[in-house]
Amino acid sequence: MSDKSVVLSGIQPSGALTLGNYVGAIKNWVAMQETHDCLYALADMHAITVRQDPAALRERCYEFLCLYLAFGLDPDRATLFVQSHVAGHAQLAWLLNCHASMGELTRMTQFKDKAGQDTDNINAGLFDYPVLMAADILLYQTEAVPVGHDQKQHLELARNLAERVNTRAGEEVFTVPEPFIPEVGARVMRLGEPTAKMSKSDDVSANSIYLLDEPTAITKKIKRAVTDSDGEIRYDEAEKPGVSNLLAIYAAVADCTIAELERDYAGLGYGRLKTDLADAVVAFLEPLQRRYAEFYEDRSQLAGILARGAESAAARAEPTIAHAFRATGFVPPV
Ligand code: TRP
Repeated sequence: MSDKSVVLSGIQPSGALTLGNYVGAIKNWVAMQETHDCLYALADMHAITVRQDPAALRERCYEFLCLYLAFGLDPDRATLFVQSHVAGHAQLAWLLNCHASMGELTRMTQFKDKAGQDTDNINAGLFDYPVLMAADILLYQTEAVPVGHDQKQHLELARNLAERVNTRAGEEVFTVPEPFIPEVGARVMRLGEPTAKMSKSDDVSANSIYLLDEPTAITKKIKRAVTDSDGEIRYDEAEKPGVSNLLAIYAAVADCTIAELERDYAGLGYGRLKTDLADAVVAFLEPLQRRYAEFYEDRSQLAGILARGAESAAARAEPTIAHAFRATGFVPPV
């Protein structure tokens, strides 16, 4: 047991990981491995709230895992695991379901958005998604949860459920988790629509730089990125969202500050900025893609990593499941 505080986060294996996922999430996860006791989940049970081709989902789990590893997540320093490998997630989700109200789940903006988009598949799992996410978090006595703004409401629900169960049980069953929202500038926007966040579920692939994109695709997408007509290279999210986004991406991949870029590019044109940025993104991704390919080929190594992650996560979840079940009135299994 370490005395570092417990951090849990997850990404669902759907769509394809983008530079936005790296800058907004994975980069932070890598840094937190040094300072926190981290658990990182591949949230495959969340992924099936949307129709999935089974073979593709399975393959995508391996793909995401290999990207995590290539980008520096380390199974010796963090617990990397597949959500469905730890039965406690589903078990705790059921218990929490019986404490979550229809009203509060109906108010979740992500449910309203998703149900509004995909009207022929509004399944109960989609509605219940935030309760499963609360289970992910509460199962490990998590103290901090790195999430983007879009997940803040879900985290608030997890906090409310933790407090509610603790109050009803009359004892502290769950730690009440705190959100850990990454600093501003850590948000990468769509190349073609820089006022909306880059998303792995975006249907328009020109909006995203995927972590596995080929150099030619990256260059083409960046060249076509939306800018503005005043021609000045300066960071101003409100007035110049396109140029600001290019600067933010540049700073993230080249490990420099936006202020340095503004200085270096003063008086230069957008064409030059885009060419240099494309080169910087390619130079950043290329070695990572090579490492990715090495991991991807070694299935027995991946199986070992997942087995170890699942075993460690399950062992850590066990006392919380036992406590929560006991506090709820279930007869302990004999
Ligand atoms: N719902 C999160 C997302 O789409 C993914 C997720 C699943 C998650 N379980 C989690 C994030 C637990 C943080 C903690 O981004």
